[in-house]
Amino acid sequence: MRINKYLAHAGVASRRKAEELIKAGEVTVNGERMVDLSYQVKAGDTVEVKQAQVYKEEPVYYVLNKPRGVISSVSDEKDRKTVLDFFHHIPERIYPVGRLDWDTSGLILLTNDGEFANLMTHPRHEIEKVYVAKVEGQATKENLRPLTQGVKIDGRKTKPAVYQIIKQDIKSKKSVVQLTIHEGRNHQVKKMFEAIGLPVQKLSRIQYGTLGLTGLQPGEFRRLSKKEVSQLVNAAKGN
Ligand code: URA
Repeated sequence: MRINKYLAHAGVASRRKAEELIKAGEVTVNGERMVDLSYQVKAGDTVEVKQAQVYKEEPVYYVLNKPRGVISSVSDEKDRKTVLDFFHHIPERIYPVGRLDWDTSGLILLTNDGEFANLMTHPRHEIEKVYVAKVEGQATKENLRPLTQGVKIDGRKTKPAVYQIIKQDIKSKKSVVQLTIHEGRNHQVKKMFEAIGLPVQKLSRIQYGTLGLTGLQPGEFRRLSKKEVSQLVNAAKGN
């Protein structure tokens, strides 16, 4: 994790203030004064500010059922509601693991553990994500088939996905389709359905790896147990 972010997560200062501390020569890593603002703190590094060792917070992990109309970043320049607005009373500096679009609802993880977040979102680990999409048009085996083979979005083919037709409303020409993917590209599900001529009207993520949303209404969250965290880690590592 970049040094200024690391200091911010440890509760030392905001990222900008942390940069000022680095520029002022107040930060050392493994005993050496750190002047590189882009330095990536590694596991095992000893970081000190004004000669006092910085300890990372106890790692915490949450699952939130994000409602629509909430942005999944730590702050928003337009002052829109963010996922962190649900966590005001939590002392740790958590942040979302990956993203859901503003108008997508459902399961999102939040943590202060950068290594865990990287593991979950790294394309190599291909954690399984399940979405339910309400789409315009008649979903059929024929027009959904390309999703199972990969469709080209942003010039690159998607990995094979698995679908299940949940509902077909012949009169209104709308369908509900469950889609399981193993990637996390930008607006991926919307673009995949767009590519086969079934634009998404409503999207929700219902599962992330081994984790579901049971018992959580939109806007509700809970802390993950140690077991749930290690199940996610194992799923990411392919165990
Ligand atoms: N795919 C999308 O298109 N949007 C999301 O929010 C998540 C996956």
